[in-house]
Amino acid sequence: MKLESYTDIQLKLLKEKNLFRMTPVHSDIRAVCFCSNDYLGLSNHAELKKAAVKAIKDWGIGGTGSRLISGTFSTHQKLEQDIAHWLGRDSALFFNSGFHAGIGILPAVSEKGIIFSDELNHACLIDGCRLSKAEVVVYKHQDIEHLDFLLKRNTGKSPAWIVSESVFSMEGEKADLKNLVKLKKKHGVFLFLDEAHAIGIYGEKGGGLSEELNLLNQVDLVMGTFSKSMGSLGGFAAGSKKIIELILNRARSFIFTTASPPYLPVINAKALQILQKMHSERKKLKEISMNVRKRLNRKFIVKGEDSPIIPVIVGESSDALNFSRKLLNHGIWVQAIRPPTVPEGTSRLRISLSLSHSGKDLEKLLQAFDNL
Ligand SMILES: Cc1ncc(COP(=O)(O)O)c(C=O)c1O
Repeated sequence: MKLESYTDIQLKLLKEKNLFRMTPVHSDIRAVCFCSNDYLGLSNHAELKKAAVKAIKDWGIGGTGSRLISGTFSTHQKLEQDIAHWLGRDSALFFNSGFHAGIGILPAVSEKGIIFSDELNHACLIDGCRLSKAEVVVYKHQDIEHLDFLLKRNTGKSPAWIVSESVFSMEGEKADLKNLVKLKKKHGVFLFLDEAHAIGIYGEKGGGLSEELNLLNQVDLVMGTFSKSMGSLGGFAAGSKKIIELILNRARSFIFTTASPPYLPVINAKALQILQKMHSERKKLKEISMNVRKRLNRKFIVKGEDSPIIPVIVGESSDALNFSRKLLNHGIWVQAIRPPTVPEGTSRLRISLSLSHSGKDLEKLLQAFDNL
């Protein structure tokens, strides 16, 4: 078969299933964006932009080599110390993205052990499981009893890890972290938490759900990203000195890629400083999130409680696409999220709120949904 024919068939299949995707360009879309992860509006923060310009002048634009060869600058080292200090951990490691962190960490820390993974975990955690040599056991989403049952059946494989997001990216719901910690203790296993969507939103210093629930010390290993609330780019792992050393030595997505340019950690360190102090902003965003949910709930099935990720469940991919187009006609940009990102039959409109939205923007959003 010719490559042209193969690609034609595959693309046709995607289109028939309403699963064909594109990369919409901001400047082409004349609507208010309700589908970014820039929850705190830091991507366009004046002080950060100023710090970025200065950092590029000071440090240049290239990482020049991988982190273990020539790519580690003092800016990387400082950011890693800042992250560790922020989360009360011994050590941290900065990755080029959250995705790099997710796919690198699990193979590095699990070897031929066993991983218990929530069925709705993010693709980078799923791929991390796939890349590891461990046995992977998937538990039903947020089903603590099911996880308990599966943990009991573990025949002693070690190391054993429970892996979960702390705020599920497409559900907007918080993990049942207290019970995950209970189970981890009961069965003597380790807990790895992806705080990507909780950072900046929960916790006094924006350290995520484990900080909010005072469970920072109970989570063995945490990962996060600078690409959501922090408005920038780059992932991280934080934990004990030894586990971070192990990840540094084994995570292929850390080792075999060029380091991020040294200016990036400067921007991220500044974002981290700003984010820690955004107490009133966190409170405000939660209030807005709850109010928007309350209004949408009158007419739609809406998930989550107080996170800025508000999924409106539609069902079929074709309906989600239609609604998304209609919203665009009303000046609202909300993406239709379809399989394989979410399970079959649960396509949705994923609204994400940001402090950069004005009261007028929010009213426009609610009006547009009322008109669907
Ligand atoms: C839960 C979760 N983990 C990790 C990532 C990856 O982070 P990044 O965008 O920094 O690669 C994402 C991104 O969508 C995510 O939702």
